[in-house]
Amino acid sequence: MSESATALDHEGEVRESGLVEHLERRAAEFWDTVKGETERGHRYNTGRITGRDGYDEGFRLYRLLREMKPRVAVETGVCNGVSTAFLLLALERNGDGELHSIDLPEIAGEQYEPGTFWDGKGGAVIPPGRDPGWMIPADLRGRWSLVLGRSQDELRPLLEGTGEIDFFMHDSEHSYDCMSFEFDTAWEALRDGGALIADDVNLNPAWDEFTTRVGRRSQPLGSKLALIVK
Ligand SMILES: C[S@@+](CC[C@H](N)C(=O)[O-])C[C@H]1O[C@@H](n2cnc3c(N)ncnc32)[C@H](O)[C@@H]1O
Repeated sequence: MSESATALDHEGEVRESGLVEHLERRAAEFWDTVKGETERGHRYNTGRITGRDGYDEGFRLYRLLREMKPRVAVETGVCNGVSTAFLLLALERNGDGELHSIDLPEIAGEQYEPGTFWDGKGGAVIPPGRDPGWMIPADLRGRWSLVLGRSQDELRPLLEGTGEIDFFMHDSEHSYDCMSFEFDTAWEALRDGGALIADDVNLNPAWDEFTTRVGRRSQPLGSKLALIVK
């Protein structure tokens, strides 16, 4: 099968699963209940990965995991759970693998101590009364575990527990320091041939500096989403 036929095949699997319709219903619920802006002045939003027709990046993540069949995957930054849902759907279809996520959620309308979130944080929030990942379909949650807290505090202990990992995705705090910390820490735990992904790679030099240092070519998965292979 040609590469584009395989890509379509994987997109077809996602579409047949009903995940896109499910996420659309959840998104409508989000926009019905969440209005306003953060204390830092950013309009509330879902923070989700996106793409040309809204789900391109999700399809690409799904395809990557269907092809590489990771046993242990780790991501930071769950929020409402769009990327997480695509990753979990792929693991479910693979019939193998586990996903460990870390998230420090911001809840719409809540007040936070100064310094809880980094100054550059945008408006990604979850609705009041919801947990991070609330958009993920119930039948995809069996392979998922979620750690609540700052990735700067939680990533090392999580990786000590998982041992070697096959896949890592950063989509949490997009500060230079946090991105650099996550790339360094995840790289140590990543097996040779494993995938390191980051969203918002254009916000600061962390990704470019890291990929240059480890001598890997960055491959685009979206306008701000990129991949390197160890
Ligand atoms: C861009 S959103 C993630 C979106 C998600 N990947 C998706 O596609 O739906 C970023 C999430 O990371 C959380 N976050 C911010 N700072 C964090 C930190 N230091 N550690 C862990 N999570 C953090 C945010 O509150 C938010 O829930």
